[in-house]
Amino acid sequence: MTQIKPGIHWIGGIERGLKYFHGHELSISRGTSYNAYLIIDEKIALIDSVKYTHTAEFVENLQKLIPIEKIDYFVVNHGEPDHSSALPALMKLNPNAQVIVSRGGEKSVSRFYPGKWNFKVVKTSDSISLGKRSLKFFEAPMLHWPDSMFSYCPEEKMLFPNDAFGQHYAASTRFADEADQCELWQEAEKYFANILTPFSGQIIKKIDEFLKLNWSIEMICPSHGLIWRKDPTAIVTKYLDWASGKASPTAVVIYDSIWGGTERMAKAICRGIESEGISMKLFTVGVADFNDVMTEILKARGVLIGSPTLNNGLIPTITPYLESIRGLRFVKKVGAVFGTYGWSGEAIKRMEDSLQAGQIELVLPGLKVNFNPVAEDLIACESFGAEFARRIRKC
Ligand code: FEO
Repeated sequence: MTQIKPGIHWIGGIERGLKYFHGHELSISRGTSYNAYLIIDEKIALIDSVKYTHTAEFVENLQKLIPIEKIDYFVVNHGEPDHSSALPALMKLNPNAQVIVSRGGEKSVSRFYPGKWNFKVVKTSDSISLGKRSLKFFEAPMLHWPDSMFSYCPEEKMLFPNDAFGQHYAASTRFADEADQCELWQEAEKYFANILTPFSGQIIKKIDEFLKLNWSIEMICPSHGLIWRKDPTAIVTKYLDWASGKASPTAVVIYDSIWGGTERMAKAICRGIESEGISMKLFTVGVADFNDVMTEILKARGVLIGSPTLNNGLIPTITPYLESIRGLRFVKKVGAVFGTYGWSGEAIKRMEDSLQAGQIELVLPGLKVNFNPVAEDLIACESFGAEFARRIRKC
């Protein structure tokens, strides 16, 4: 528990032992936190809660600050269980509290926790009075689910945007300005790349809509990671950059190989890229952290994927990368594919189809080499890499 302003407390759960989030989909290297915020005024509001693993500790900590039956409002900005699992326990202790939700939140909370809930459904600009303070609401669907909304305390200029602007980062401080800045921004970028990229268009639209409201912000209190206190809008600017596809003129090359042919192609392509003064990062499937590779794609303009043809298709180890690229729908990326084949060569088309499904513009025809790249094939790979680098520079 930390008092972040007089009468306003961070109360949440810190998770340091977690290796993956969302099942085994998202790697966590520096832990995470489930942040809830308690506002004690003439009326009392609790904004969000914690994951079920932390419910008992959360309820105990909350009781140290305030008897739970005195809480007037449970604000549920988003129904995903990492922020709402403590709700049934809280409602058991205080069934009369109003549960403040968006229209989508009414549905998600009812589906996750069937029961009779005292819902109050709010929309953008609706507000509730807490006494000296108030809370206003902003519907933010798809940041991160259709039910997502932001809560805002105008008297304190504090924004509670739930998943938006968060990081999976468990530090020993609650404030971003007191943390290691390199780690903090790495985690903010990884979080955006792997969770929010698919909603880039909506992020730009909703941030624009929010900024037009002129709700002044001195503190952004997300539901994961650290609170943005010093220059809080820096993360908002970063979101606009990432969501609009602002990236370095660099390339990411990802491949797997059976007998080393596709690997030699990858390395020759990298030499070609570098010969044009463009920097690249080369990843062998299964060696690099999968989600770190997705973060590198967010940061780069170009992505190259290599797979040999196996069983008339792809080497299966490359498919999670292609599936993630398809689903994340990175903005303004260019791409191309390559690989060896024995007698059919279907992997090239499969990779191209996946990249196109992920909105990646194919700027070169796929490069395939029969069985094993010989000297002239490697020269062709270098030329392919150099041409790809020139296309990146032109973007
Ligand atoms: Fe952190 Fe969408 O839940």
